[in-house]
Amino acid sequence: MKALVLSGGKGTRLRPITHTSAKQLVPIANKPILFYGLEFIAQAGIKEVGIIVGDTKREIMNAAGDGSRFGLKITYIEQEAPLGLAHAVKIAENFINGDDFVMYLGDNLLRDGIISLVNEFNSTKPNAQIMLVKVDNPSAFGVAELKNGKVVRLVEKPKVPPSDLALAGVYIFDKNIFTAVNSIKPSGRGELEITDAIQYLVEKGMNVKPCIVAGWWKDTGKLEDLLEANRLVLETMEQKISGKVDDKSKIEGRVVLEKGSEVVNSIIRGPAIIGENTKVINSYIGPFSAIYFNCNIENSEIEHTIILENSKVANVARIEDSLIGQNVNIIKSGKKPQAYRIMVGDSSSIEL
Ligand code: G1P
Repeated sequence: MKALVLSGGKGTRLRPITHTSAKQLVPIANKPILFYGLEFIAQAGIKEVGIIVGDTKREIMNAAGDGSRFGLKITYIEQEAPLGLAHAVKIAENFINGDDFVMYLGDNLLRDGIISLVNEFNSTKPNAQIMLVKVDNPSAFGVAELKNGKVVRLVEKPKVPPSDLALAGVYIFDKNIFTAVNSIKPSGRGELEITDAIQYLVEKGMNVKPCIVAGWWKDTGKLEDLLEANRLVLETMEQKISGKVDDKSKIEGRVVLEKGSEVVNSIIRGPAIIGENTKVINSYIGPFSAIYFNCNIENSEIEHTIILENSKVANVARIEDSLIGQNVNIIKSGKKPQAYRIMVGDSSSIEL
């Protein structure tokens, strides 16, 4: 079995972060989302992975490399434009070369990995296996209608959803999916939809097996989902202190201090993670915060927030529920006249 990981797309709902960086590389508990997927694939015993890349190709390639650090062999497959998930399958036909394969959307996160899903597929050998999750807002996803435990219909982002079962971004296919992706037509949003391709298999009487996801699943396309995924992953971490903490500081609960990090006269209340070479000085870092590498937090309070690499926060009374990008400075300077002096990118959002 091979794996196909989709890591193209523009991440419009996460702008401005995704103006300069791939949505699949946003860190959740200080690890790029994409790496969770690659690790799950390796744990399931899969060795050969194709990654579909688009505009952010360079970054994805720099981050994941040849895959050896995950025990994988990665082949990059370029998609010239985001023409849909089924289009991505179409251009991967040579790479898959007749094998069964897991298709994994690079911005999806699962609690339990994919071992049991792969085992289920291998023991029952359906033509396709889809993962379903009960959600409150099915109209935002592909939706499945089941009858007596069988898939009878799949629809992409229906206005009137036939059920509350969303398609999670992990699928397993045999070679019949290639006939399907080569037969369907683009949807209203101009994309070749994988949901339509699976519906084609259903119509041809193929065996499309539904699996209901037991643990949590997150599509991390939006800020709230990212913060929630960060919360869920931080909850599962144990305390690990690989950085320096001075006598005046207090580390409470499940806190991870990565190599080279330094905490001076501060309180860190877990679950929280402080990245490599990040310094926290005279500050409070509260639960569900993930601060990535080379950051500097001084005289500030931060809680329930993700901060990306090389950023600096100083003299800020309190930041909560936020996502702060790379190389950002948020500093209260005390300069007169007292005013907000801001240089902020397109599609940003500031709540004061
Ligand atoms: C895609 C699929 C959709 C699926 C979702 C899961 O949606 O088209 O069927 O439910 O991923 O994350 P998109 O993220 O492209 O809007």
